[in-house]
Formats: sequence, C-alpha cells, structure tokens
Amino acid sequence: MYYKENPVFPEGFMWGASSAAWQVEGGVSEGGRTPAIIDLNSKKKKPYADNSIAADHYHHYKEDVALMAECGFSSYRFSLSWSRIIPNADGRVNPEGIAFYNDLIDELVKNKIEPIVTLYHYDMPVWVDEKFGGWRNRGIIDVFDEYVRVCFENFGDRVKYWLSINEQNMQIVYGHWLGVSKGCEDWEKDKWSVNHIMNLCHAKAVIACHEMVDGGKIGPVPGYVPIYPETCNPLDQIAAMNAEELTEKIWNDLYVHREYNGFVKKFWKDNDIDPGIQEGDMELIRKAKIDFFALNCYRSNVGKDAPPDSGFRELALNKSGIKGEFVYPNYPGQYALAANPYVETTDWDWEIDPVAMRYMLRYVWDHYQLPMMITENGYGAHESVDADGKVHDPKRIEFLREQIYQVGLAISDGCEVIGYNPWSFTDLLSTGNGMAKRYGLVYVNTTDEEVLDLRRIRKDSFYWYSELIKSNGSNW
Ligand code: BG6
Repeated sequence: MYYKENPVFPEGFMWGASSAAWQVEGGVSEGGRTPAIIDLNSKKKKPYADNSIAADHYHHYKEDVALMAECGFSSYRFSLSWSRIIPNADGRVNPEGIAFYNDLIDELVKNKIEPIVTLYHYDMPVWVDEKFGGWRNRGIIDVFDEYVRVCFENFGDRVKYWLSINEQNMQIVYGHWLGVSKGCEDWEKDKWSVNHIMNLCHAKAVIACHEMVDGGKIGPVPGYVPIYPETCNPLDQIAAMNAEELTEKIWNDLYVHREYNGFVKKFWKDNDIDPGIQEGDMELIRKAKIDFFALNCYRSNVGKDAPPDSGFRELALNKSGIKGEFVYPNYPGQYALAANPYVETTDWDWEIDPVAMRYMLRYVWDHYQLPMMITENGYGAHESVDADGKVHDPKRIEFLREQIYQVGLAISDGCEVIGYNPWSFTDLLSTGNGMAKRYGLVYVNTTDEEVLDLRRIRKDSFYWYSELIKSNGSNW
C-alpha cells in the first residue's frame, strides 16, 4: 500500500478493541447465569467450540482490563449476557450478574477506558426461547424492554455509549448459521416478521436509553460488507445494489429514516410476504432516533448479475480454515456474489480489503450523516506460541495498519469517525471456528481440544497497537 498522506485522527478519538459475552466470558454456569441457546449449540453443533470456559474473562477480567490499560486503550466494546442479568422467566434480576458487570465497568472507568456496551450479541436466553420462540414471537418485545431497562438503570451512570442488537442484518441474512431461523417453517418469508420484531426491540432500547441514561447515546451495529460491481456492465451495478439492499441498506435506512424503504416494500409485495406490522408499530419505530452508527467491517464482496433463469446456488461459508471452501451464491433475478481477483484472502476466504473500510465510512456518511465508530474489524488466523515463548503475528499488524490508515483517509475525506475497536482484545471463540480462528491482540493459552492454563501472552500486534495509540494514530 502506498502511503501518500499521514492521516490525522481527532483529539479524543476512542482507541480500543471489542468482544462479546458468550465468546469471551466463560463461567456459563456461575454467578447465577442460566444457559443461552448458543451454549447448547456450542456443545453439540460443530464447528462451534464449547463456550463454557472460552477465554475465561469472567475470572480474568481484572487482568484483562489491566492489559487494556497497559496498551493505552481509551475504549472497550463488550456485550452483556441477558441470561446473566435476568436468568429466568420470572423476570427476577440476578444481583451476582449485576455485580459482575458493575465490577468490570468500575475497573474500566478506573483505568479511564470508556465502556461501549452491546445489549444483545447472539446469546438468546433459553428461557426466552422456550417462552416465546426467541425472536419469532412478539412476546419478546416486552421482556427485551424490561431487560434493557435493567441495564440502563444499573449501568447508565457510567456507560454512555450503548449498542442495541449486534448485526441484526447478518442474523437475518445468515439466519440458519446464526440460529435465528430455529423453529421457522419458511425462513425466506418468516425472516421479515422476525426482523420486524427485532426492529421493535431495537426501537424500545433506543427510546429507553434516551429516557433513562443521562447523556446516553445509542446506535445499531450493522455488519457491513461493501459490495463492488464485478464489471462496468450496468447489470452488474444493479446486482451489486440489490445485494447491498438485501444484506444491509434495508436495515440502515430503517434505523435512520424510521420507515421501511421502497425497495423492501416492493420486495415483500413481489414475494407475497407479510412482515406482521401492527397498528402502532411504526409510531414506535419513528420515536427511536439513533445517535450514531457502530460498524462491524471485515471484508468486501463482489456483486454480479444473476439472470432470472440462472440456477439457484446457496452461499456456503468456509468453516474449516482451509482456503477455497467458500461458495459464492447465485440468487436468480437478484444478484450473485463472486471472488475478487484484486484482493488477498484469509484462510477462511475472507477478502483482505482495507479500501473497503474507507468505502464503507464514505458510503454510510454520505447516506446518513451520523457519527460512526468501528466496533469490529480484524484478522482471523491459525496461531500458536513460538519456540521463543512469544506470538508473532506480522500479518495482523499489516492488516490493522492498512485498515486504520483507511479510517484516517475517510476522516480526511470529511467523515465523522469517533472510535476504532477492532475484534478482538484477547483471543476468544470465533462464531464458526472456536479457538482455531484467533483474532486477539493478546493470546489466550488454550485450545478447542484441551483447556490449558489460559495464560495471557501479548502478541507482537499488542505492542504495535500500543505505539499507534500513543501517537493517536500517527506512528506508522
Ligand atoms: C462478527 C460477529 O460478525 O464477526 C462476531 O459480531 C464474530 O461475533 C466476528 O466473532 C468474526 O466472525 P467469526 O465467524 O470469524 O468469529
């Protein structure tokens, strides 16, 4: 990459990293927590790895926060486990769960690290699933509202940045993979009513945050994958736009304009879909004005025309970590995805495309003019401890350097970006590959096969990132 200008990051820019409760905490049966659906999946459905210990952050949180402080963090993005806070259908608040998060937040604040808290990150409590069928039933709206209000009431004095639902768009697009489709008879149709219920939950969280948290700000967390047209064939451009609508824009438009956009309304009509909008729903959604976008971005995609008579091909993710397994889908009449010959890929076939970061920030800024923070971005790799007892991860350093540089360019393009929190601080469980796919700046000594001593080892990227933070992003 050719560096022609030195990016300048604003004063007070939040530098940190990111995690999610079920992927990092462990301690799943401790402190009064009850199971989440993802715990059950992680035991029986390979390649999910067992999350009962994960990175054992539940027992190591003080050490982990001390390492964040040593690295120079000014922010840390993490999620709360709903079933740790409200473990059962009786709605009783679990004091031990509240105490755990209070201690974590206090530790962060003591170290001048801004907590950025996700309310929901894939860990549906079993009791909510049993009572309401997860997101399928409108009954979840009230219990989600009760849960988020407990969070705002207990943590809102110290937590000012809140995130509603992690990657709602990806949960709908990859419903089978992320377990949201469980129990649905016809997912392709049902996904839109599930999505509508999620929108109502998101709206309730936004409204409650503004009501209850003094100075509180809240935003959604879309998973964002920029989509380039494969060629300048106009049909490829339209296909790329269709892909963008059906995987991200429908959601982002709703969050900002608080109305379903014309594209999705036509899509529903053409496909005979009833999203289950009831009286009063849109009034509620219209009240939920977000303050910023939290954006997760790892890679990019290529869209191309898929003629109506072309064959259907389902997307298949690479779950092995052996290059070449990803299957690009073909949705006749909508779009197809294709490989990008201009970019490298990870062992999981994820495109390594730093320019996508600038593209995304420019795109979201141009469309919505809201402040943005990066809440996920990172390099998943097979890693182990070297003979010298250290973990050398030059490729992660290169990945982060290039990505951060593009964040800087987007800022110089005029985008308002307030923070960068890559995935992840310590190694933690990947959604698809457990500990085999590591993202951390800090190595956690354990494997999927065997629980080891869980020792924390600073990777080379930890030291590199620390220097970068000290220079507020100017030390390349
Ligand atoms: C994001 C999720 O989409 O991608 C994280 O919010 C996830 O939970 C991350 O870990 C990376 O994906 P994976 O499958 O490599 O863990």
